[in-house]
Amino acid sequence: MTPRDVIDDPELLALADRILADTGFDIRQYKERPLKRRLAVRMRACQLSSYAAYAERLRQDPSEYPRLWDALTINVTGFYRNPETYAAVQDRVFPALAAEARGGAPLLIWSAGCSSGEEPYSIAILWQEFIAASRVPCQARIVATDIDADSLRKAAAGRYGTSSLTELPPRLLARYFAERGEQYQVDAATMAMVEFRRAELMEPAPFRNVDLIFCRNALIYFSRAAQDAVFGHFAAALRPAGFLVLGKVETLLGQSKERFAAYDVKERIYRLNAR
Ligand SMILES: C[S@@+](CC[C@H](N)C(=O)[O-])C[C@H]1O[C@@H](n2cnc3c(N)ncnc32)[C@H](O)[C@@H]1O
Repeated sequence: MTPRDVIDDPELLALADRILADTGFDIRQYKERPLKRRLAVRMRACQLSSYAAYAERLRQDPSEYPRLWDALTINVTGFYRNPETYAAVQDRVFPALAAEARGGAPLLIWSAGCSSGEEPYSIAILWQEFIAASRVPCQARIVATDIDADSLRKAAAGRYGTSSLTELPPRLLARYFAERGEQYQVDAATMAMVEFRRAELMEPAPFRNVDLIFCRNALIYFSRAAQDAVFGHFAAALRPAGFLVLGKVETLLGQSKERFAAYDVKERIYRLNAR
């Protein structure tokens, strides 16, 4: 399905084109009804009554963008966020990585912009599920970075309330967490797979020979030039033909398009091209 199959209101498409041109983020991936509901919140706050007027406001006042991202709840995280992306990684990316694994060294997976840890722990759970089902003798190590020290502290504790866990299948909750009062504690084996570290995405990547990078919903406030720089750092960090998973609203722009080949367009999964 192409984005244009999802939204068919021409005024809304024009607004989406404006946002894509300004920021590189493609809101056409959202389903039309929830998207309209959330845009209406911002349009009411700005006392505007048409998508054309709101597009014009964004053009004149880019400081509206952070408020729009908040309304679209892009600044949230959770276990198994966008479960269909995790399913694609488990079904298509992990088998490829396991088949290509060199020697006995564990695979290296990087969750860049990991927030409070829900994403890297989800990857660790997904990997364990993949190994249990496929029985391939392959190990993975996950490094997870963020700029925000408070988020990293929460991540290292591995303890979450139910609001972070709504997308996680109940079987996995029972298998990988222990109930602690109102909260759930990630089990020791899963925690041991993940190492947290503070790192700035705009700086050269602190890792090399990475097999798979997840960078989802972290580049939302970055200019197009800054995004391109980050994708350059990712290209340097990945091993040849390494994988990159982006968030649903993120797209590769400019030079970055040449660096990566699409692997699963719908789930925003790419592979590094030969240098
Ligand atoms: C919305 S969260 C995304 C969490 C997770 N990747 C997901 O999709 O659920 C975005 C994270 O990116 C981090 N971030 C934003 N700018 C960053 C930067 N320049 N360097 C490192 N991390 C950054 C934020 O601190 C935040 O924790």
